[in-house]
Amino acid sequence: MMHLNLSDVLNNPKLLTFKVSLPSGETITLRPLEHSDISSLAQFLEKLSPKTRQYYILDSYNFSTAEELCDAINRYDKLRFIAEDNSAKNFVALFEFSFDIPKNDEERFLRYGVKLNPKTDCRIGLCIADEYQNKGIGSLFFPYLLGIAKLFGQKRMILWGGVFAINKRALKFYEKNGFKKLGVFNNKNGGESIDMMIFKA
Ligand SMILES: CC(C)(COP(=O)(O)OP(=O)(O)OC[C@H]1O[C@@H](n2cnc3c(N)ncnc32)[C@H](O)[C@@H]1OP(=O)(O)O)[C@@H](O)C(=O)NCCC(=O)NCCS
Repeated sequence: MMHLNLSDVLNNPKLLTFKVSLPSGETITLRPLEHSDISSLAQFLEKLSPKTRQYYILDSYNFSTAEELCDAINRYDKLRFIAEDNSAKNFVALFEFSFDIPKNDEERFLRYGVKLNPKTDCRIGLCIADEYQNKGIGSLFFPYLLGIAKLFGQKRMILWGGVFAINKRALKFYEKNGFKKLGVFNNKNGGESIDMMIFKA
């Protein structure tokens, strides 16, 4: 089977654009991040609460980061999606894929007996806007993310930077959606993080 690559998505974002109905009746569009999204993405980042920023770490949550993420489109190994509320025209979530495996992840996973391979393993990062968290939206979109990973030829998924051990909701969320805990490591913030993996993307 031919797999998608990042330029396919840039040339035809509709390939990976999905309309999804929430239980509330709202329709949300899941689509690749585009160059014209800088301002809306900046607004999304600026509105994230201190608690969400504690769990979803970026250098900053402003226009310059939004610009950086949009500049990265089709330049490196990253593929980012946004979920957009069709009626209010605001971003509900940012979902990120990385198709590269950094050396430190590779070494950590070897300790768990797992040999990572960028051809078949990808990393994901998820961030849902505060007012949309804990309403089942992550679980509603997760099967789409699995489907997208498959289209890129990826068979397994790990968490980008692991998940903070104190982030109980995320831990529950990942377990509910098929991730298994592989091990614990000390993160840069002085706490513990957990590596998790899904084996059948
Ligand atoms: C983590 C995140 C992606 C999950 O998405 P979501 O749409 O909020 O999650 P869902 O509503 O689908 O599922 C959350 C589950 O956790 C449970 N939960 C919520 N708070 C919890 C807590 N404090 N302890 C344990 N479980 C909790 C919910 O009950 C639900 O499980 P259920 O469906 O069995 O009832 C989202 O909350 C988010 O983006 N959070 C902020 C950033 C973040 O933490 N990103 C992940 C970094 S690794």
